[in-house]
Amino acid sequence: MAGIYDRRYDSPRGKAYHGHISWRVMERLPRGVSLLDLGCGTGLFIQRYTAEGGTAVGLDISGGMVEMARRRCPASDFVVGTAEVLPFREGQFDAVASLLAFSYLSRPDRMLRETYRVLRPGGSVAICTLGSSLLTLVLVPAVYRLGELLGVRRVGVGDFNEHYYSEEEILELFDRAGFEAIQVQRCSFANIHLADPLFRIFKAAEPFVEENLPALAYNILASGKKPLE
Ligand SMILES: C[S@@+](CC[C@H](N)C(=O)[O-])C[C@H]1O[C@@H](n2cnc3c(N)ncnc32)[C@H](O)[C@@H]1O
Repeated sequence: MAGIYDRRYDSPRGKAYHGHISWRVMERLPRGVSLLDLGCGTGLFIQRYTAEGGTAVGLDISGGMVEMARRRCPASDFVVGTAEVLPFREGQFDAVASLLAFSYLSRPDRMLRETYRVLRPGGSVAICTLGSSLLTLVLVPAVYRLGELLGVRRVGVGDFNEHYYSEEEILELFDRAGFEAIQVQRCSFANIHLADPLFRIFKAAEPFVEENLPALAYNILASGKKPLE
């Protein structure tokens, strides 16, 4: 997907969708520090994060994605590898982020244990990933099936065996990894698959939905801190 991934987020809808997730993740992290982005893709989040200062390292399992990320963010470092086994020293980073990648990991428990290890004491982690909701459990599989039937090859249309998390599941994973001050919230209501007029309506309703009707929001935002020794 590396060659076509950015097309999705270059559109006004794509920018609004990814920008919102990035902003929500950044709210949970200290700014201007040393950041590790797991499943960094083409470097969209690193570009936003480092625009406000700080340094960043991105890791992704796809060499193609890493190549695109290097082009987007020449001042940052990128590594090809799996988020489940990190090639970094203990306590090397102040913050760890992961956007829309956690749901694709077969061993999310290992990723969180590794995240804990590479964070300094007092460091923060924030993850935004796919949540289970009526939309993701019913509508998304229908879109996938339709895409397969029509032979559509587009980002966001295809079954990648991803997992849709409940708040309880992700809370338990963070807790077992040793994090404290864990916060889990729903986010995102305006879905990128919606046609423009509908997307605008959903976007306007997004803050209200996230605050008052979280069951309708389809991503999950989870954050925590590594305890101070
Ligand atoms: C939907 S993309 C999200 C990319 C980027 N974080 C963003 O917000 O645009 C999911 C990314 O997770 C990466 N990924 C999947 N499994 C991974 C793993 N085990 N370790 C590291 N990256 C992984 C994929 O290669 C892909 O770049």
